[in-house]
Amino acid sequence: ELGDYRHFMEKEIFEQPAALENAMRGRFAEDGSTALFGGLNLTPAELRQVDRLVFLGCGTAWHACLVAEHLIERFARVPVEVDYASEFRYRNTPLDRDTLFFVMSQSGETIDTLGALREAKRKGFKVLAINNTVGSSIARESDGGIYQHVGPEIGVASTKAFTSQLLLGAIIALYIARMRDMSFNDGVEYVKAVKSAPALVRRVLEQAPRIREIAKRYAHYKDMLFLGRLSLFPIALEGALKLKEISYIHAEGYPAAEMKHGPIALVSPECPAVFFAPRGEIFNKLVSSIQEIKARHGKTIVITTEGCELPPGVADEIIYLPDCHEAVLPVVATIPVQLLSYYIAVERGCDVDKPRNLAKSVTVE
Ligand code: M6R
Repeated sequence: ELGDYRHFMEKEIFEQPAALENAMRGRFAEDGSTALFGGLNLTPAELRQVDRLVFLGCGTAWHACLVAEHLIERFARVPVEVDYASEFRYRNTPLDRDTLFFVMSQSGETIDTLGALREAKRKGFKVLAINNTVGSSIARESDGGIYQHVGPEIGVASTKAFTSQLLLGAIIALYIARMRDMSFNDGVEYVKAVKSAPALVRRVLEQAPRIREIAKRYAHYKDMLFLGRLSLFPIALEGALKLKEISYIHAEGYPAAEMKHGPIALVSPECPAVFFAPRGEIFNKLVSSIQEIKARHGKTIVITTEGCELPPGVADEIIYLPDCHEAVLPVVATIPVQLLSYYIAVERGCDVDKPRNLAKSVTVE
């Protein structure tokens, strides 16, 4: 089953262009400007009544919820709240009447997410699931939802399940946005961008040999930082989680601009930072944050956009992303940190597919 790959995680990383094609197959309306989600069991009129969304998940799925929050608020202008499923179930949060819930779970068996789903339903709310396992407990108990259709994920560290959750979050943002403020033309452009995700991901995967070389130079560190802003802050969290899970290097994901409020104290030649600095309105702010790290002699691996010029000396390593629409940037930006973590873990001789202390699906509290 592994073919030419050494690990399922490696196979699942490289399968992502095909997985993303599968996740979005049949999800677009014929007019090319919006989405189709037959399984939500909600009419457009019912969906228009919703004035708040709550997204719940654990681990990597929680990171995907944070990206969905960003895109839905940005494009659909509907307030979104994200919570850890494990916290939500005991928090007894006050909730508005016209709130719709989404739970995100690859396995559909995570007990905390199932517990949160039951709690929301007990309170009379509709709960939809984004899930990769047909017939799972979460699929059965939800009021409707969206299957990821990326096939079984074997590696304990989630890869293709995560990027497909990101892509579906982007398509949900489009769907709700087109019922509200987004124009036909902007919808068409958005759909084209989402459809280009597999090709964009393929272009990042082509850089794997170079990322492997970078990984060899960083595999001996004990601590690492992952920094990003806006939609790439959750991807910084995801990069840090991947590295922790499979290589046992201590890693922290942080919003880049928060560094000066404390964590910059950690920066030293012994603690490299992976930095997301894509093209965009805050590019110059991101460059200043990288310079603050460099001034404290921290090594920097900068993930930026092709064509962006970084001032000399700020990046020890540069990884380029193809230029892309905001809706797919989180998907594209995830690939380098998956590869980096994977190659670092391999370099350290770790059991990548079965990291210590972890199970693929967490069915205990
Ligand atoms: O099956 P789920 O999506 O509900 O799983 C949630 C987390 O346990 C899972 O994403 C975990 O964080 C992964 N090991 C991350 O790589």
